[in-house]
Amino acid sequence: MRKRVGIIGSGDVGRALADGFLKYGFEVKIGTRNPDRLIDWLKKSGEKATVCSFEEAAHFGDLVVLAVKGNAAEFALDMAGAATLHEKTVIDTCNPISEEPLENGVLNFFTKPNFSLMEKLQNKYSRIHFVKAFNSVGNALMVDPQFEEGRPTMFICGNNDKAKGDVQEVLDLFGWDVADLGKVEAARAIEPLCMLWCIPGFLNNEWNHAFKLLKK
Ligand SMILES: NC(=O)c1ccc[n+]([C@@H]2O[C@H](COP(=O)([O-])OP(=O)(O)OC[C@H]3O[C@@H](n4cnc5c(N)ncnc54)[C@H](OP(=O)(O)O)[C@@H]3O)[C@@H](O)[C@H]2O)c1
Repeated sequence: MRKRVGIIGSGDVGRALADGFLKYGFEVKIGTRNPDRLIDWLKKSGEKATVCSFEEAAHFGDLVVLAVKGNAAEFALDMAGAATLHEKTVIDTCNPISEEPLENGVLNFFTKPNFSLMEKLQNKYSRIHFVKAFNSVGNALMVDPQFEEGRPTMFICGNNDKAKGDVQEVLDLFGWDVADLGKVEAARAIEPLCMLWCIPGFLNNEWNHAFKLLKK
């Protein structure tokens, strides 16, 4: 298993996944434009954690996580230097949430149903091995989720099988079952799971759930 992880993005997701990778012995660099915001995080994160630029995080990681606002994903990848990421596995956690207000608890996306943010990124940065994952659950449940019913399911997709293998290993370590839904187009279905996941939260302040695929 690769042990150096670069995280592009320092929000709740970037920090939650960084904590998970650190817990399991990885070295982690979190990339941000605002390192001061991570002073407290860094103090409690041990010697295997560092804070740096997007570019350094991209360069450092054998495995890279993209965890930025959906509408800033291209900007962040350009700042990171997309060429640095060629042939690397990049976990795409991003959702294409638009700035429009909620409608009865339902988020608005800036993508259309037959296209996804991940496809936009994969088309533009064709040599990066994106794998969609972690976008359909809240950050508090991303690492070692505990449910009486057992492991929840993470839905993933991506064009590169080896990259998906890398991400499956991480998901297994982090306590998830994996449903591999195929190539990048499956992100058209996986990204809206975020909308579904958030509705009980926005309507009833219920945020402690995750999806599970039941099979016969
Ligand atoms: N929050 C959750 O529980 C959750 C769960 C599943 C998926 N997601 C998705 O995961 C992604 C990250 O979510 P989040 O909640 O951690 O944080 P967020 O507030 O959506 O994004 C924060 C990150 O975006 C970067 N960013 C914002 N505007 C930017 C710009 N113009 N250019 C470059 N970078 C910019 C910030 O960079 P700096 O560090 O430089 O400030 C920061 O690292 C989102 O796409 C979100 O939809 C979130």
